[in-house]
Amino acid sequence: MQHIFKAGTDTNKPVLLLLHGTGGNENDLLPLADIVDPSASVLSVRGNVLENGMPRFFKRLAEGVFDIEDLIFRTNELNQFLDDAAKEYKFDRNNIVAIGYSNGANIAASLLFHFADALKGAILHHPMVPRRGIDLPNLDGKNVFIAAGVNDPICPQHESVDLQALLEGAGATVEIKWENFGHQLTMSEVQAAKAWYESKFK
Ligand code: MLT
Repeated sequence: MQHIFKAGTDTNKPVLLLLHGTGGNENDLLPLADIVDPSASVLSVRGNVLENGMPRFFKRLAEGVFDIEDLIFRTNELNQFLDDAAKEYKFDRNNIVAIGYSNGANIAASLLFHFADALKGAILHHPMVPRRGIDLPNLDGKNVFIAAGVNDPICPQHESVDLQALLEGAGATVEIKWENFGHQLTMSEVQAAKAWYESKFK
């Protein structure tokens, strides 16, 4: 997968896995990693699917309607890429914290839904429930932060509420930060994510 890896100054820190929104690329979220933890290594990945020229992490049939077969395929592909990247760049495969926005948050949530050990934790900006009606792996000890907008037309409130319940049901500890905005990523939610990250991973 097309990506950027930047070695951090503190290799004991989690590796921050950056996953962009629809139409973005591996450069988009680099400033977020700098805010959340400037000393951490960064692995920023470009989604392998193109929708009218816009990179995404998996196909969708319509807005908010996911192509589940492709979601599963792409989730496996990303998980395998993380295995390979950990070997290539010599970082701890069990110490990855994802930071995803929108479609990138959805594939990060899908990693949690399908693999017990894909991620150590995740910051999900404006996510949805990636898949319903499946048993989740045991997520004991995983920490997840969700930032959501009460007026988000793309990711309605109940998506974050359901996602929290499903992840908690599997054993994860989940915190939600609500913003009085829509789908946009705000600086205040990034600052809240940083405060949460520092409380969990420092
Ligand atoms: C998705 O397709 O993952 C969600 O609708 C969010 C987005 O627009 O990317």
